[in-house]
Amino acid sequence: MKNIIILVIFCMTVNSALCQTVKSDDQKADSLLKIMTLDEKIGQMTQVTLGVVCTQTDGVLDTTALRKAIHKYKVGSILNVTNHALSVDQWHIVISQIQDEAMKERMHIPVIYGLDGIHGQTYTLDATIFPQNIAMAATRDTDMVRAITEVTAHELRASGVRWNFAPVLDCGRQPLWPRFPETYGEDVLLDRTMGVMAVKTYQAGGLRNSNAVASCLKHYIGYSDPRSGKDRTPAYIPEIELREYYLPPFRDAVKAGAASVMVNSGEINGIPVHASRYLLTDILRKELGFEGLIVSDWEDIIRLHTRHNVAPTARAAVVMAIQAGIDMSMVPMDFSFFDLLKEAVQKGEVTEARINESVKRILLLKLKLGLFDNPYPEKAAISQFRKPEYQEIALNAAREAMTLLKNQDHILPLDKTKKILVAGPSAQSISALNGCWTYTWQGKDERWYPSNSKTILQAVIDKAGNDHVITCTTRGFDQPENYDTDKLKKYADGADLILLCLGEDAYAESPGNIRDLALPEEQMDLAKAAISTGKPVILVLTEGRPRFITSIEPKIKGILMAYWSGRKSAEAISDVLFGDYDPDGRLPFSYPKSMGEIVLYDRKPTEDIREVFNDNISGGYDPLFPFGWGLSYTNFQYGPIRLSGDSIRGNEKLTVSVNVKNAGQRDGKNTVELYSHQFYASVTPNMKRLRAFQKIYLKAGEEKTVVFKIDKTDLAFVNAQLKTYSEPGDFELMIGDQKARFTWSR
Ligand code: BGC
Repeated sequence: MKNIIILVIFCMTVNSALCQTVKSDDQKADSLLKIMTLDEKIGQMTQVTLGVVCTQTDGVLDTTALRKAIHKYKVGSILNVTNHALSVDQWHIVISQIQDEAMKERMHIPVIYGLDGIHGQTYTLDATIFPQNIAMAATRDTDMVRAITEVTAHELRASGVRWNFAPVLDCGRQPLWPRFPETYGEDVLLDRTMGVMAVKTYQAGGLRNSNAVASCLKHYIGYSDPRSGKDRTPAYIPEIELREYYLPPFRDAVKAGAASVMVNSGEINGIPVHASRYLLTDILRKELGFEGLIVSDWEDIIRLHTRHNVAPTARAAVVMAIQAGIDMSMVPMDFSFFDLLKEAVQKGEVTEARINESVKRILLLKLKLGLFDNPYPEKAAISQFRKPEYQEIALNAAREAMTLLKNQDHILPLDKTKKILVAGPSAQSISALNGCWTYTWQGKDERWYPSNSKTILQAVIDKAGNDHVITCTTRGFDQPENYDTDKLKKYADGADLILLCLGEDAYAESPGNIRDLALPEEQMDLAKAAISTGKPVILVLTEGRPRFITSIEPKIKGILMAYWSGRKSAEAISDVLFGDYDPDGRLPFSYPKSMGEIVLYDRKPTEDIREVFNDNISGGYDPLFPFGWGLSYTNFQYGPIRLSGDSIRGNEKLTVSVNVKNAGQRDGKNTVELYSHQFYASVTPNMKRLRAFQKIYLKAGEEKTVVFKIDKTDLAFVNAQLKTYSEPGDFELMIGDQKARFTWSR
């Protein structure tokens, strides 16, 4: 009894303390707002890039420009780097100078600094770079997402930065899109689950926690499916589809408490998202209940005038975006937004009440992040930078991402006594293992990578020894020597097998636009040359999106999809190739055969029908490797699916169990995936939808029972009235090669 009383008193105290903080943040924001001038308010809504306040030398501020930004334009936020990552010390100097200047202003409002730490802290030298989201989705390991996100938050805080423009929640349903590697792939559940984990981890313990950073969900909404596949080009997404595939990750992440949202630079159905009051205010604010900060993407407000042509003047563009619901403009190269918004308020085109709403959200975020208590980088946080254990996390994450697509005649694991020819452009490239947003925006410039980053060639030599490895490659993805087919053939004479490393060098955003997914011709020529030698060929793909290998695949013995798996990619690749790690990654997308065959796994029934009129044109889901595909060196077997009943009603839960046995000789991990299919529904049902997944570890010979509980919400879809709706009917459940049926009724 005594304990209960103490507990109640404790809870009341904690609650009232919490209430007080919440209240005082709110009150403080209101009292600041009351005394702020219009200039001060609009300044808060203005975000500029570091280049605006920097000299020509990276990381060295131009004090005159800084003073102009802070004292004349009163900017509330700065982002980005000028060219490349800075050291922790440089960040401390840069951000301290910025805050020093901000503290001289009469309102003492700190500046909020934002960076893109999308797979580790991109813009700090020596920060730990992890696999891209597409590779993290392949791990199917939400605990691993937590682990890498936590390190990212620590290394951001160590750099004095409290706002991270992550996670990317765009569902990757258009593999041509150059930002596909930043996504969690084509499935909504994976995207939702991993996104929520990222948000909760970035903000763990609340934003005042000295290890937390504010997350920024991006890019709301529908950015990832441009019709042309090119970045920032029009998407045409009917609302039923928008709500089925693109909205749920944002809905869940908002519920998880995300502090901010960045807007899609593109247009949907002819309306640029930055101008859409419907998407930003009616859906995001009112329907999803998002109360945090909405920031534009790069230059996207002015582009309503200069690119999208929906605003006849630059000022009209600003008015349009603010009325749609945006709080902060990533202007970011000048102060035009400040002048234009001020003019718009003076002319009565935007009310000061509307400005106050946005400024309050900005002040609240700064208050919650503790920036008003201490705006400066914290010295203590530096001890959280580059801890030895981060390398281990990076290695484990990369290992779990490795997805073994083919292993004919058990060619893998490799025999260390064989002589290996390492070939192909990514054999001696670091950037092709890391991809976009790695120490620079494009990730291509290896000068900024840690000097001890390994190439595939080095990691293979580490395992097999110098005597067993030869190469016809040289350092650098683009070096002509790496594409020399004659040299490859000549060197192959002295080898027992060829390890061919193909794929994509790093790219980000529009520079990564391509016309089709075919592998560049010179890489195909290399593959053909390797095959022509008659030696077994093992292909390692380091790529951010699936590039076609259809014509060469039948002649290739082993294929390892390595994605862009970060700092420890090379080590993870060689661990898998030599069998020191049992591969357990699963494809987070359908690997297509050709441009005309891009069908996603959760296709509709008629996408699966093969018309008989023309035998050569196959319809249907016929990828080279399906979503969820991934081989292991051991052998996992699934027993029959057991259900708690053959029907459930209303809100009842159905228990789904399956025994999984590791019937092979090696220990390993296996992801058990539960899919459902509704036989008949008022909206054409998906042939398959991932409803739950669990990754388990089984020793050789071990067996475990995996249990899922599902209910009607797991069976829901968006109906013709655009409501997420569970419709009574018969369902099939699928786990591996096992199937079971049940009925759900009201
Ligand atoms: C990208 C965003 C990024 C921003 C700031 C834009 O070009 O679309 O994802 O957060 O730049 O770097």
